[in-house]
Amino acid sequence: MNYNFDEIIDRHKTDAIKIERCKALFGTENVLPLWVADMDFRTPDFIFEAIRERCKHPILGYSMPPEDYYPTVIKWIKDRHDWDIMRQWIGFLPGIVPGLSFSVQALTQPGDQVIVQPPVYFPFFHVVKNNHRELINNPLKIVNGKFEMDFDDLEKKITSRTKLFILCNPHNPGGRAWNAFTLRKLAEICAKHNIIVVSDEIHADMVFEGHKHVPFATVSETAAQISLTFMAPSKTFNMPGLISSFYIIPNAEIRSRFVEFLEASELAGGNIFAYAATIAAFEKGNDWRKQMLEYVLTNINFVVDFLKVNIPQIKPMIPDASFLIWLNCKELGMDDDELFDFFVRKAGLGLNKGTIFGPGGEYHLRLNAACPRIVLEKAMKQLKEAIATSSY
Ligand SMILES: Cc1ncc(COP(=O)(O)O)c(C=O)c1O
Repeated sequence: MNYNFDEIIDRHKTDAIKIERCKALFGTENVLPLWVADMDFRTPDFIFEAIRERCKHPILGYSMPPEDYYPTVIKWIKDRHDWDIMRQWIGFLPGIVPGLSFSVQALTQPGDQVIVQPPVYFPFFHVVKNNHRELINNPLKIVNGKFEMDFDDLEKKITSRTKLFILCNPHNPGGRAWNAFTLRKLAEICAKHNIIVVSDEIHADMVFEGHKHVPFATVSETAAQISLTFMAPSKTFNMPGLISSFYIIPNAEIRSRFVEFLEASELAGGNIFAYAATIAAFEKGNDWRKQMLEYVLTNINFVVDFLKVNIPQIKPMIPDASFLIWLNCKELGMDDDELFDFFVRKAGLGLNKGTIFGPGGEYHLRLNAACPRIVLEKAMKQLKEAIATSSY
């Protein structure tokens, strides 16, 4: 079956954050919204069918995970990432970002240090600071146009108070699918210093041809024993509003500390629609996933080629995975506020400001390419005209 990703779907009056918060964030509703990381594609029909099927029963009572939930998750992860996981390692998580916050609360004490690698998905900072832990930045380096980890800096920053490392794999906003060599080295350093690694792998199922997602826990037995991995069908199948994530924790002691926290907070239960949607996504979604990725990659290539020919001052980082493009706009010669303002007011484009991703985000913007191509064509045209007609 061929899926149609060109369809324009009006998201107004659906409480979509991408639309409803434009005014608050950009000061105007008159922008093409290319920010919040959900897709403007139709959530696939097999997800709706699964939800409708569950709705045929007249009672939406307290429910357990359906019998095929765990085998389906296990099979998907084996097929996609060649990782053999055990049933008892997995559990429902009410959101990946909440999961990051739970890890901070369950596995560290106030005043402990938690390491992140900016520029990175901004809630990584919030879950550390809002829980009164000390945030330690281990900034990524750019080598040959792509992010690399800086292990020398990492080793220098670790102290006896460093307890947790939050990894973004694949990386948002850079789209880097970290390789086994890098992850193994990270595991060795963290294990040496008794640091637990929580690996946010929400983008794992969106790696492009020619690249590979390597789950952190698979690179060595050491990595498996010091880590928590968080995954979800939510991003890949465009259903983040359903809350459908899960954790995988091979180490019994870390798992029991984490689960104890979830249970004490009464957070361990999932919801019937998320279970049904997850099973449908993983049983029926691979073809949709592949077609969606092909479409997104063509979108990304379109933006990259357009910028190269028409606005070479803007340098995109080419992602290995997912639908986000990290744009280096330094050569436009504007400061961060001017840049953001220029995109909003002159080009009519609503992108994420780079500085929210922390150090290394200066002069950058993040563009969401998961939309019908015609929207991106319009966006690039508006940007080209804005540059041509401005004396910025
Ligand atoms: C790296 C990363 N983690 C987590 C999330 C959000 O996860 P959730 O909606 O499950 O909290 C996102 C969404 O953009 C993300 O990019």
